[in-house]
Amino acid sequence: MSSPMIVTIDGPAGVGKSTMAKKLADALGIAYLDTGAMFRSTAWRLGEGAWKWEAPRMVEELGWINFALSGSGSDTRLSLNGYMVGDEIRTEQVGMWASNVATMPPVRAFLKEAQIKLGAMYPLVAEGRDMGTVVFPNAERKFFLDASVDVRAKRRFDQLKEMGKPANLSELKAAIAKRDDQDRNRAVAPLRPADDAVIIDTSDLSKEHVFKALLDGIKG
Ligand code: DC
Repeated sequence: MSSPMIVTIDGPAGVGKSTMAKKLADALGIAYLDTGAMFRSTAWRLGEGAWKWEAPRMVEELGWINFALSGSGSDTRLSLNGYMVGDEIRTEQVGMWASNVATMPPVRAFLKEAQIKLGAMYPLVAEGRDMGTVVFPNAERKFFLDASVDVRAKRRFDQLKEMGKPANLSELKAAIAKRDDQDRNRAVAPLRPADDAVIIDTSDLSKEHVFKALLDGIKG
């Protein structure tokens, strides 16, 4: 039996991967997998200081975590041990915890296996940092979205403002730059485009243009 179709979207923090993955999953009528949410919810479940744990303790704690997907398109839901993960993981602080535990080999091995299992069950638009390079090297189509730190910080600033949440542009820029640095320079599965990925610089593109570029890439 052939394996389900996988499309990967990788890229740095705040580049719009989730928005595009949802839209593309809607257009293709398949589920999307937000692997950043898997790292975030794992980090959130383990708690603040987990990145300091030795490997045996980490392996033991990870053994209690289970992920499941339900639904399709933008209505896809990720649950951890039956709990639907929500907005509590969407803070820059939990993003940093996620980036911290994401440098640890036991965490990467555990989530890679969980992602591969989900990809064997469902056709997916999978978004993250290492989807095209490490987790799904044989994906049908691979994309890498990029944009300058300034542009990404401004987008997140506008989003937070729109939601009526407090936002400080220079703090956001510093947090994104710090996370970028850690995600790009870690020893295991660093953020980088796969050799066969279509690279889209979204800095000067509207959401509509980025989406069109993805659809063109799928057809092409
Ligand atoms: O995409 P995001 O900002 O929600 O991801 C949060 C962190 O999780 C990110 O800074 C690094 C880590 N991550 C990863 O290492 N590999 C992935 N495939 C997805 C996320």
